[in-house]
Amino acid sequence: MSYSAGPGAYLFGKEEIKEIEDVLATGYLFRYGSEDDEKFNGKVYQFEKEMENIIGIGHCVATSSGTGALMACMAALGIGPGDEVIVPGYTFIASISSIIHMNAIPVLAEVDESLTMDPNDIEKRITKRTKAIMPVHMLGNPCDMEPVLAIAKKHNLYVIEDCCQAAGAKYRGKRVGSYGDISAFSLNIFKTITAGDGGAVVTDDIELYKRAFAYHDQGHMPNRAGIEVGARSMFGMNMRISELTGAVALAQIRKIDKIMNVLAQKKALLKNKLENLQTDAFTFRKINDPGECATLLTILFKDAKTAKAFCEKAGTTTISNSGWHVYSNMEQLLEKKTYTETGCPFTCEHNNEMIYEAGMLPNTDALLDRAVNISIGVVDKGLGSSVGINILSSEEEIELQAKTIGEFLADCEEG
Ligand SMILES: Cc1ncc(COP(=O)(O)O)c(C=O)c1O
Repeated sequence: MSYSAGPGAYLFGKEEIKEIEDVLATGYLFRYGSEDDEKFNGKVYQFEKEMENIIGIGHCVATSSGTGALMACMAALGIGPGDEVIVPGYTFIASISSIIHMNAIPVLAEVDESLTMDPNDIEKRITKRTKAIMPVHMLGNPCDMEPVLAIAKKHNLYVIEDCCQAAGAKYRGKRVGSYGDISAFSLNIFKTITAGDGGAVVTDDIELYKRAFAYHDQGHMPNRAGIEVGARSMFGMNMRISELTGAVALAQIRKIDKIMNVLAQKKALLKNKLENLQTDAFTFRKINDPGECATLLTILFKDAKTAKAFCEKAGTTTISNSGWHVYSNMEQLLEKKTYTETGCPFTCEHNNEMIYEAGMLPNTDALLDRAVNISIGVVDKGLGSSVGINILSSEEEIELQAKTIGEFLADCEEG
């Protein structure tokens, strides 16, 4: 099996090296080089502009991680102590930990057969403290944004799109990230495009952009333009990226459409072969839009027993056993372990005493117990995708994998 990484990492090549060399040749490693020196490339800035073009949105600020990007989104919206954010129980832990680090409270919602937030489960979670809904485009599949946006509008809530696993995906013809008030991306090694680590915030709202920028860089105005002393808008953090990271991100964003096209073709090939098997032992998860990233093929078995039998034969795990992406495997959440001794913000007076326990999302639990990820472009044991193909797999390799997986599927039904 191939090494653990996303499709962008597999395509690292001369384009990234050229961009890095440009930076090294000038010696400007900091994102704010000398504007007057024509040698200064401004790779981070260029990446931000190209990201805006790709997403089809007004503003982008690059950040040091997707986690930081989510925090900057919430800081921009003014989400803080006592506020509740509705987030699916199946997501990477950072969707939840970023809420905690804003001293806000995550309220978990069920996922549906798309393994993204179930729009029918949102309204019952809304309280007078709810400030935002955070749909997560999980495993590259766009969340069903139309009903999510309608609910947000009805209840006057913000929408923060967590696009960390779905850079490049489209929903109803537009890129994910362009639907929410503000959205976050990750550039870590498992993502569709990568700079090793890194992230980005995008929004159409100039004021939110200014606030996200300020949060990511010690309260400064975008690009540190304008008179700063005495005019900084808030305490910020340092979540900047360097020109070296910006250089790789720039080369990668230029590959995003190629990555989407190649993955769509490879997934279709593998999926068609498996669809032709005459069995009712499994179906596939629901895909909310054909513009999904096609980074994974998720099998939904008819029951947990059949899924387990498949995993034993294939040497993989069901999603429910795959690790940190499932709320019931997040010990920090279940035990309310924060960096404070008291477990604040979970336990602060102004918060509801939320209870997080295995079994609290029965639909999600039942689905994940019978779900298995097959890799197409993201090879990651942490997602349970240690079986499958990668973006470089040839047609012959895909056919061979389809045959092997097909045999496991036939066996698991018999046994
Ligand atoms: C859904 C989701 N949200 C947030 C993040 C956090 O991104 P990063 O690792 O860049 O901080 C990830 C990364 O794995 C993710 O998958």
